[in-house]
Amino acid sequence: MARLSCFPLLLLFLQTQLLVLVASKFLRLPSEQDVVGTRWAVLIAGSNGYYNYRHQADVCHAYQIMKKGGLKDENIIVFMYDDIAHNPDNPRPGVIINHPNGSDVYAGVPKDYTGKDVNANNFLAALLGDKSKLTGSGSGKVVSSGPDDHIFVYYADHGGPGVLGMPDNEEYLYANDLVQTLEKKHADGAGYKSLAFYLEACESGSIFEGLLPGNISVYATTASNAEESSWGTYCPGDDEGAPPTEYDTCLGDLYSVSWMEDSDVHNLHTESLRQQYGVVKDRTSAHETYSLGSHVMQYGDLGLNEQSLYLFMGTDPANDNASFVGNSLPSLRGVVVNQRDADLLHFWHKYRRSAEGSTRKGEARRRLVDMMARRSHLDSSVQLIGNLLFGFEEGPKVLNAVRPTGQPLVDDWDCLKYMVRRFEERCGGLAQYGMKHMRSVANICNAGVREEAMDKAASQACAINPLSVVV
Ligand SMILES: *[C@@H]1O[C@H](CO)[C@@H](O)[C@H](O)[C@H]1NC(C)=O
Ligand SMILES: *[C@@H]1O[C@H](CO)[C@@H](O)[C@H](O)[C@H]1NC(C)=O
Ligand SMILES: *[C@@H]1O[C@H](CO)[C@@H](O)[C@H](O)[C@H]1NC(C)=O
Repeated sequence: MARLSCFPLLLLFLQTQLLVLVASKFLRLPSEQDVVGTRWAVLIAGSNGYYNYRHQADVCHAYQIMKKGGLKDENIIVFMYDDIAHNPDNPRPGVIINHPNGSDVYAGVPKDYTGKDVNANNFLAALLGDKSKLTGSGSGKVVSSGPDDHIFVYYADHGGPGVLGMPDNEEYLYANDLVQTLEKKHADGAGYKSLAFYLEACESGSIFEGLLPGNISVYATTASNAEESSWGTYCPGDDEGAPPTEYDTCLGDLYSVSWMEDSDVHNLHTESLRQQYGVVKDRTSAHETYSLGSHVMQYGDLGLNEQSLYLFMGTDPANDNASFVGNSLPSLRGVVVNQRDADLLHFWHKYRRSAEGSTRKGEARRRLVDMMARRSHLDSSVQLIGNLLFGFEEGPKVLNAVRPTGQPLVDDWDCLKYMVRRFEERCGGLAQYGMKHMRSVANICNAGVREEAMDKAASQACAINPLSVVV
């Protein structure tokens, strides 16, 4: 009796469930449009030069994901030098690819800030939403977000402890300025509901380590921890995974293509930031063996990582039936290279493959020799400065010391900035490769060295040890 009377009830219950299911498929639930506010994306490639092809390729690819996800161009702000697609070295003029078999990712990408307008000042102004601080002749687009909005920031470039690079070796972007901008954006009448920051650079963990608070609704993941380089991928070579032979440059970065190839194929409603972090971490570390690759890290408000990627990237309707089921990405292949050596690899390939006696071969050889000379000049100058300041015994120890996890690189960021300027005035620009020495300069600050002492040591060191090869 009881059983019988339950039966219709059960049926009714099932029917209601089915109705809800059907309704959610065909009706737009409030969560789809209204609750979400507006999605914003800031995408920036911080390098230029054909040998850095991969950073702009990454950023163009990220744009295509946001666009297919449903973000509007007025809400996507792209910073890229824009010297790749029409570069004389580009084997496919007007086209940029981010995978060996990939199609063009360049078409349609807005050119909001290009050339010299790609700099730390404009990036921070755009992020903050402050048009008055912009310089140059960019589109003027900034993140004019409100308290219900979600912001996605993606940055791909070279970096070093505490800094991110900018094209043409413009003023570096220092970690404290970036984190202060995020704090200000949060404080200014709540400029967003939550913000996800994906960062690819060497030592990218140092940008947030001990700096990014957990209470400003910012969730960040980085390609590497605070002490290691990040990796380029789809690099020239003979292995599977190499780009077509006409490309002598890496097409992407490992952490970057990992999140993008994952976002490319899934219904992003069904995948959380945490799940994507898991996939990317696994792929970027050769299945957590770290035999190649780096440690992908998370910082800030980790509670946010339960949110769906859809809140930040939207989702491509073509993937509606492709729910997230775990890591479906191909494994890391042989052709990856430490970011700092990708330029050497490029010129080496160019050299190897150019005809004997050609101008191209001579030029590639000259660039290689010059790069090696600059590297060893920077390395030995920094080492000498350490010896002059702290003695031959203590010098290397002070310079190479790494602070415990959870502590920022340096306490006095102004000190780091002026010490870097003193060094560069006396010894030449740190630039792409030399950013790796930022920790040594930070440790000089942490040891309480005065500006005059640094200036003296740098001028002595670089007088004894001049750069012998000049382009
Ligand atoms: C975040 O926490 C820190 C340390 O507890 C506190 O000083 C700061 O005011 C908090 N900020 C916000 C926005 O709540
Ligand atoms: C590119 O496509 C070819 C042919 O389908 C395949 O063998 C190769 O593995 C693909 N490359 C990558 C990196 O997926
Ligand atoms: C998803 O699956 C349904 C049912 O099989 C089908 O009607 C629809 O076209 C599919 N959508 C996409 C985007 O493939």
